[in-house]
Amino acid sequence: MAALEQTFLELFGHKAEVLAEAPGRVNLIGEHIDYSEGFVLPFAIADRTYAAIARNNDGLVRIASQQRKSRIFTIDINAVKPGSAGDWEKYVLGVIWTMGVSSGVDILVDGHVPSGAGLSSSAALECSVAVGLNSLFGLNKTLEELARATQKAENDYVGMPCGIMDQSVSLMGRAGAALLLDCRDLSTESVPFDVASAQLELLIIDTQAHHALVDGGYAERRASCESVAAKFAIPSMRHLTMDLLDTRKSEITETEYIRARHAVTEIQRVKDAVAALRANDFETLGRLINESHFSLRDDYTVSCPELDVAVDASLAAGALGSRMVGGGFGGSAIALINAEHIEKVKEAIKAAYAQRNFKAPRFFTSLPSEGASAQLLQSN
Ligand code: GLA
Repeated sequence: MAALEQTFLELFGHKAEVLAEAPGRVNLIGEHIDYSEGFVLPFAIADRTYAAIARNNDGLVRIASQQRKSRIFTIDINAVKPGSAGDWEKYVLGVIWTMGVSSGVDILVDGHVPSGAGLSSSAALECSVAVGLNSLFGLNKTLEELARATQKAENDYVGMPCGIMDQSVSLMGRAGAALLLDCRDLSTESVPFDVASAQLELLIIDTQAHHALVDGGYAERRASCESVAAKFAIPSMRHLTMDLLDTRKSEITETEYIRARHAVTEIQRVKDAVAALRANDFETLGRLINESHFSLRDDYTVSCPELDVAVDASLAAGALGSRMVGGGFGGSAIALINAEHIEKVKEAIKAAYAQRNFKAPRFFTSLPSEGASAQLLQSN
């Protein structure tokens, strides 16, 4: 943090007033159902993005990153609206816009969530800035309001029609627990996730793959769910059951049917996973994780060869469960593994990748960690 404050001073010529941080996430189960008012069970990871922020008197927004200090992106505060210039800076500008900030600010960010790995580096960036601005301007927004504001920033400023899971868990995550989030009203329950005392580990496998389909593919899946809801005159997939879906199958397309089947079954799997976790039944949790992957692969078709090979190799090497996480088409998979088998599983995945000439995967582990926080600094 001291280094961030020092760089801030060097770049902007005055001191930072607030330091904020927000984590990335992995999702145990509940994929592609946040935008259907479903339930999800993610946790915040230890890796986070840091933001140092201060007001300026120039009416400008200036944004820089510790990773690339030579570029200071500058824009008039009055020009901060959708369609503005900016590359990754749009995630920051979007938050400034949705939070209604009207005076100039200088922002330096330092990102430690691997980007492109499906671990929500973008939500970490948005949420670090959001909690920082919330403190700096004394806005007193609740975590729910900040989650809605950061999601809106990504939807309307960046143009990615994401749901609300990533921002919510980045803001509300708790150490030692997964977060059962009801994506309809953002109510939460902490579900203790203590793999270590069960001699297990949750391995995160970054496939290092990033397929071009990502953005259009995500929007298309979301549109399918909304189309089914419209045809059935229900508010969302949450209101659907397999009985209703099967009875009215002829009113929707075959593609819509299998997309909706994923949503209905995935919501049930989340509920079952919570019960399994509460009973310390990791075998059942593993089975549900596998079923989630098969549904995402076969019905929702958001997986890709790199993810499938990681899952298959993990399971063949003894993992209790494995699946893709996040939006799909690349990014990361998780595997729930007996701690003593972790090296064997890693080796099996590496070998399977080498055999197919895939780029070598990267491995992470992380315990569930605390969500975002901000600290006002003394002015002198
Ligand atoms: C991305 C989105 C989330 C969620 C997941 C899939 O991470 O940002 O809102 O939809 O994909 O579960």
